[in-house]
Amino acid sequence: MLEVFRDNGIQVPTLCYHPKMPPYGGCRLCIVEIEKMRGLPPSCTTPATDGMIVNTHSEKVVQVRKTVLELLLAYGDHNCLLCEQTGNCELQDLVYEHGIDQFRIKSEFKPRPKDESNSMITRDQNKCVLCGRCVRGCLEVQVNGVIDVAARGSDSFITTFNHTSLKDSNCVFCGECVNVCPTGALTYKQARFKGRPWEVTKTVTTCAYCGVGCQLELNVKDNQVIKVSSSEEIPGPNKGSLCVKGRFGYDFINHPDRLTTPLIAEEGGAFREALWDEALDLVAKRLGTIKTKSGPDAIALFSSARATNEENYLLNKFARAVIGTNNIDHCARL
Ligand code: SF4
Ligand code: SF4
Ligand code: SF4
Ligand code: FES
Repeated sequence: MLEVFRDNGIQVPTLCYHPKMPPYGGCRLCIVEIEKMRGLPPSCTTPATDGMIVNTHSEKVVQVRKTVLELLLAYGDHNCLLCEQTGNCELQDLVYEHGIDQFRIKSEFKPRPKDESNSMITRDQNKCVLCGRCVRGCLEVQVNGVIDVAARGSDSFITTFNHTSLKDSNCVFCGECVNVCPTGALTYKQARFKGRPWEVTKTVTTCAYCGVGCQLELNVKDNQVIKVSSSEEIPGPNKGSLCVKGRFGYDFINHPDRLTTPLIAEEGGAFREALWDEALDLVAKRLGTIKTKSGPDAIALFSSARATNEENYLLNKFARAVIGTNNIDHCARL
């Protein structure tokens, strides 16, 4: 039913629903009132049938949704001032939309320590709403199955096998869980304090690490890439998923050690910066000398997955048609 609403522009709040995963029916925010049906069923797990008369925003529905949100706030530490996710948080948006302006429900919420065991993902269970999107993203989308819900009722929490930190678990740091988390419970550590969502410009580009062609978004502030994000709404082979390299391996872009000009080795081994024309002329001269002296098979070329298909094709042409050798290979992945 929820998908019918969405296809027809009818806004119904959700937290546990994610278009990449089968419906779960856990958060109860998408509840609706259906004529001649008891209770308030969640629209994400209720099939739409002909002739149904559904009220998505009756007084009763809105009141229950508000109470659900208040309970979520009561069983967590939601100080948005101190949260990296502010401005990009589905829970924050829903609380605002429902006009909640105070923490009305008191609870015996027991804070949990943050998992800061690794350099990529911060896990703050105190901001978790137990929507299960991370669990399903890890298991059903990435097929890793590293995390699950433990305990019952208000004691429930997301954990790894044997309750280890993420670093000591089987986590491969694909970041899928962070990507689908609707709150600040899972955040990108490298991006922390670097920029608010409304300060960044997102540029969609193709990941250069391998030949799959995953689409990702470079989040840029002050001409620096501060984060890589992804979205299932961007057409591409990856549907918003990435691997550890595409999602977290971007710090080389602004690294001060990165080469920005060709370097030519002088006698004695020291390198000096050169212009491209000078460097290319030198390479052409040296390759010509080797070919004349020892034949084309004395030369081998090694191409790269970091280059585009077109660039790899050109190197293949260069090896076979210009140099005259079949000595060409390629690193399929980095
Ligand atoms: S998770 Fe969302 S609602 Fe909770 S503190 Fe962070 S921004 Fe606020
Ligand atoms: S980073 Fe990937 S493998 Fe690790 S818990 Fe999250 S989804 Fe699972
Ligand atoms: S960590 Fe995020 S995605 Fe996982 S259950 Fe908690 S709120 Fe949902
Ligand atoms: S979105 Fe339907 S129950 Fe959570």
